[in-house]
Amino acid sequence: MSILSFKDRGKWGKSGWRGNCSGHVYKELFTRLQPKVFVDPMVGSGTSVEVAQEMNIEAYGLDLHQGFNAANDSILEKVGKEADLVVSHPPYGGMIVYSGNVWGEANPADLSRCVSDEDFHEKLQLVLLNQRNATKAGQYYGTIIGDWRHKGEYVSYQAECIARMPKEELAAVLIKAQHNCQSDSKSYGSMKLPFILHEYILLWKKKDAPTLVLLTNLARQQYSRLSGTWKNIVKSTLSGLGGQSDLSRLYEAVAKNAPQKLAENDSWKEKVRQVLNQNPSMFKPVERGVWAITA
Ligand SMILES: C[S@@+](CC[C@H](N)C(=O)[O-])C[C@H]1O[C@@H](n2cnc3c(N)ncnc32)[C@H](O)[C@@H]1O
Repeated sequence: MSILSFKDRGKWGKSGWRGNCSGHVYKELFTRLQPKVFVDPMVGSGTSVEVAQEMNIEAYGLDLHQGFNAANDSILEKVGKEADLVVSHPPYGGMIVYSGNVWGEANPADLSRCVSDEDFHEKLQLVLLNQRNATKAGQYYGTIIGDWRHKGEYVSYQAECIARMPKEELAAVLIKAQHNCQSDSKSYGSMKLPFILHEYILLWKKKDAPTLVLLTNLARQQYSRLSGTWKNIVKSTLSGLGGQSDLSRLYEAVAKNAPQKLAENDSWKEKVRQVLNQNPSMFKPVERGVWAITA
């Protein structure tokens, strides 16, 4: 079945943790995918890890409330090994603000505090690339995410996720019914369009191909559509080169398998330099011609 519906959230995690996910959803995923090692980089109240441990799956839970920023810190490095399944459940749409509200103090890295939808889409892409990097080839990474209608605008976070990841790795899109939403109590009788009562579970299967090949394929898919993608390509490529590189090595890595049109025209090198120069929060010059990811 590609539709999951669990009214009961089960005994796992904390029922008082806003925006938590039913443990039965994770149980279903684990039963289907049979991971030996599982990671949740946004573990919240711990639902997923508790279910995994009960099923004798080696499980790791990370979260910004422990100081781990999934958009910036390497999941692979933190866990120390590749996993068979890496699933996140990010906050989206600013419906629930976590840092400074559900826990601790306000943290600008908190995905529920993004300044715009574009900011969120770009950061979540980094999280997904990070998850992918922590996944064994042939195994699965994914996210649980909904859409949001706000001030008359429908924002499809799931569609953005699918558009920003390698399409050759997309493996499944499941629908998960949402129960006990806070807004259930309000009256939506006069609305023409239905209130959103579902989330998506998006799963990708990591191909056994070099990361750089897939990332440059990604550039090919998105070049005409998403201007922000260039920033993430440069960051991911630098990351693949150990977080720091001289320009010639960086060009070589980006050019490998680049679209023919791009490879024939040297102006893309200017684009790479422009991205490096114009994004000081992401990249910093280390010495002349050598660039690093900003810590
Ligand atoms: C929807 S909740 C996860 C709930 C969890 N599935 C549960 O059942 O308890 C989203 C979580 O993402 C975390 N988060 C937000 N931004 C993050 C970031 N940049 N890195 C890691 N975790 C983050 C929040 O602290 C919050 O705990």
